[in-house]
Amino acid sequence: MQKHAVWPLSLLALRHLLLQLSIPRNQSTNSIELSVSQRPVLSDRKLGHAFNKCVKPKKRHEIQLMASICEYSCQISPVDFVVDFGAGLGHLARVLGYGYGVQVSCIEMRSELNVQARCIDTKLESVLQKHLPPANLPCFKRPKHVTLCITPDMQPHQFLHIIAESQHKPNTNFKFGIIGLHPCGDLAVILMRMFTNIPQARFLNFASCCYMKLTTAETQSNIKLQGYPLSQYLLKQREFSFLSYEALEISCHAMEIYCDRLASGDYEYLKVHSFRAAAERIIINQWPNLKHCGLRSVKHVPGMDFEDYFYKATQGVEASNLPRSDLQTSTTKNDLLHWRRIVIFYTLRLMFAPLIESIILYDRALYLQENECQVKINAAFDPRISPRNHITCSFKLK
Ligand SMILES: C[S@@+](CC[C@H](N)C(=O)[O-])C[C@H]1O[C@@H](n2cnc3c(N)ncnc32)[C@H](O)[C@@H]1O
Repeated sequence: MQKHAVWPLSLLALRHLLLQLSIPRNQSTNSIELSVSQRPVLSDRKLGHAFNKCVKPKKRHEIQLMASICEYSCQISPVDFVVDFGAGLGHLARVLGYGYGVQVSCIEMRSELNVQARCIDTKLESVLQKHLPPANLPCFKRPKHVTLCITPDMQPHQFLHIIAESQHKPNTNFKFGIIGLHPCGDLAVILMRMFTNIPQARFLNFASCCYMKLTTAETQSNIKLQGYPLSQYLLKQREFSFLSYEALEISCHAMEIYCDRLASGDYEYLKVHSFRAAAERIIINQWPNLKHCGLRSVKHVPGMDFEDYFYKATQGVEASNLPRSDLQTSTTKNDLLHWRRIVIFYTLRLMFAPLIESIILYDRALYLQENECQVKINAAFDPRISPRNHITCSFKLK
C-alpha cells in the first residue's frame, strides 16, 4: 500500500461526517464517580485478588467501572436492591454485594452458571471471613441467583413477582435499579421495556453488545416485541431506520485494535479476513446453501497459512472434509494474492461501524426520553480493552 497517497476528497469528507455524527468512543471517566479506592475491601491487595480470581482482565476493567457507576446511581436514586439482567457468573453482583454493600438479584437463564456463581460466592465469603473483623461481615450482601430466561413477551407484573420472591419481599412495595453488563441482542431491549413499564424501577445502567442478534421488522412481525427500532421517532420513519444484518454485525467489531494494526503496518493479522473471503468462495462453490454460514472464529497467529485456517474455521461443517488439493486451486491462490483488496474493503466497511452503533444507541436513548426518563450515554470503558464501551445511564423523572 502506498503510505503517503493522498485520500480522495470524498473519502476525507465521509470520514469527517462519520466522526461528527457518531457518539465519541474515547473513554471519558470524568463524568463517572470512581469510588473503588474508597472501598477497603476492593482496594486491599489480598482481598482484591479473591474478587478477581478467574475474572479476565477485560471483565475486571468493565466490572470496576460498572460497579462504580451503579453505586453512584444508588446515591442519586436510592433503591432497595438492583437487578442484573444476564448476570452470567455473577462477577459484577459479587463486587456490588461484598464491595459496595448493594443487594443484587441476578437473572441468568443458564442454570449451570448459577450453580457455579453460588460456589464462587461461598469461596469468596470464606476468604473475607478469614481476613476481616466480624463487625464488617453484616455489611456484605450475598447476591441472589435466579435461573430465568426472560422473554420479550414476559409481563411486567410477572417479572415483578419473580424479583420480589428472589428478595423475600412480602409485596411489590419496593424500589429497584436495573443493570446489565453486555446483555446480548434483545435482552437489552427487554430490560429497557421492563424499566419503562415498571414504576418501581428507578434507574438503569447497561452496556450493549451483539447487535446482530437484535430482532427487526424482518425477523419479528410484532412491533411491541421487536428489538430495533424502539423509539416512536424511528418507528415512524421506517424507510430511514432500516439496518441490515450486515450493518448490525459490523457495528460489533473491535475498531480501535484494527486501526492500530493498520497504522503500524501490522498487516499479517489483517489477512484473516482475506482467508475468510477465500474460504467463502470455496464453500459456496460446492454448497451454495452454506452461503454466509457461521464458521468458527480463528485467531490469526503469525505464520498461519490458509489451509490451517480453513480446517480450523470449518470444524463441524461439511466443508472440513474437502481434500487439501481443493484448497490449492488457481482461483484460491489468486484470491489470497489479492488480500489487500479485502483489507481496503473491510476498512471502508468498518468506518461505518461507530455510526451504526450510534444509531442503535440514540434510538434507545430516544425511547427512554419518550417515556419520560433522563438519559446519558458515557464511553465508560477503554475501547481497546472493551470495544462495546458505552454505558447508557437513565433515571426516572417522576
Ligand atoms: C454476554 S453474557 C454477559 C454475562 C455477564 N453480564 C458478564 O458481563 O460477564 C450475556 C448473558 O446473558 C444471559 N442471557 C441471554 N439471554 C437471556 C435471557 N433472555 N434471560 C436470561 N439470561 C439471558 C446469557 O446466558 C449470558 O450469560
